[in-house]
Amino acid sequence: MRRGVALFLLINFLILGYILNSVFTLITLLFEDCKADAILSSEIPAPGSELIGKGPQYIPRIIHQTWANESIPEKWQKAQKSCLDLHGDYEYKLWTNEKSRDFIEKEYPWFLETYDNYPYPIMRADAIRYFILSHYGGIYLDLDDGCERRLDPLLSYHAWLRKTVPTGISNDAMGSVPQHPFFLKVISELQRYNRNWQIPYVTVMYNTGPLFLSVVWKQYIKTVSSEEQRVRILMPDEYGNKPWKFFGVYKGSSWHRDDAKAIFWMGQHWGWVTFAGFALGLSGYAAIYLIYRRLHLKRSGEYRTGAAGTAWSFWPWRSGYRRVKHEV
Ligand SMILES: *[C@@H]1O[C@H](CO)[C@@H](O)[C@H](O)[C@H]1NC(C)=O
Repeated sequence: MRRGVALFLLINFLILGYILNSVFTLITLLFEDCKADAILSSEIPAPGSELIGKGPQYIPRIIHQTWANESIPEKWQKAQKSCLDLHGDYEYKLWTNEKSRDFIEKEYPWFLETYDNYPYPIMRADAIRYFILSHYGGIYLDLDDGCERRLDPLLSYHAWLRKTVPTGISNDAMGSVPQHPFFLKVISELQRYNRNWQIPYVTVMYNTGPLFLSVVWKQYIKTVSSEEQRVRILMPDEYGNKPWKFFGVYKGSSWHRDDAKAIFWMGQHWGWVTFAGFALGLSGYAAIYLIYRRLHLKRSGEYRTGAAGTAWSFWPWRSGYRRVKHEV
């Protein structure tokens, strides 16, 4: 019996250890405030400031967007126009499904099979933006992100991402120089993260979406050793309801934004989620343990030797069980 229990506990600890190890980055992500790489309001020249354009500009003046084809749905046309109108001197690239696939086929043929076999179109839309930024550099924007001012100040970093509330980073607006080590890492990790998690939502988020990007980013920042390698973070404050904000979200946001909200709800309420997870896990273990004891008792015959009047109890802490045991 004792040995059985010890073995049972050992196996459980091993399983628990394995689970903790595999979600370790996720857990540390919950405590990441991005402060170390935050782009501060004080470094962003105000709209119209004479400082704009004076500093170095590393990121090429290209705006990338993606959509299935050339006909942008009406609900996003206003947002798209707001960016086009402000950036007449930028190159604008709209990546349709056809162009995206051709690009992968030509430049990243090793990825084509994975790309073609993604079960959901949104996964291709996620993946293509990482390859485009890695290849051409520039600024990627979701179609529902409108521009409130010129993005020039954001060209003076080597790479930047947006933080989401309360934790993690988003893939809806990103900027980078070509061949930035972060995006090189991102595209090289896509295949390793390509797993079917059975739940579509988790598969999308963790294979190609913001959760994937957040985890890769969290691992990447440990390796950064120079300013060029740094990925700066645009904080929620800088794109919230501020006069100097860069982006405005237009009505009819794309579905993955809502999706991100749902998964980051778990982040926001991670205390409860963790608590519920542990409670569920412990109840599960307790149930397995009780069943194990019961089966074990049955097999060894102890179950049948219960003296009259001392009904054996399923619950080990009830006295009935002990008495039975002593009598054996
Ligand atoms: C463009 O793509 C959308 C969404 O997939 C589709 O509804 C629409 O029919 C397409 N338009 C053209 C002209 O192919």
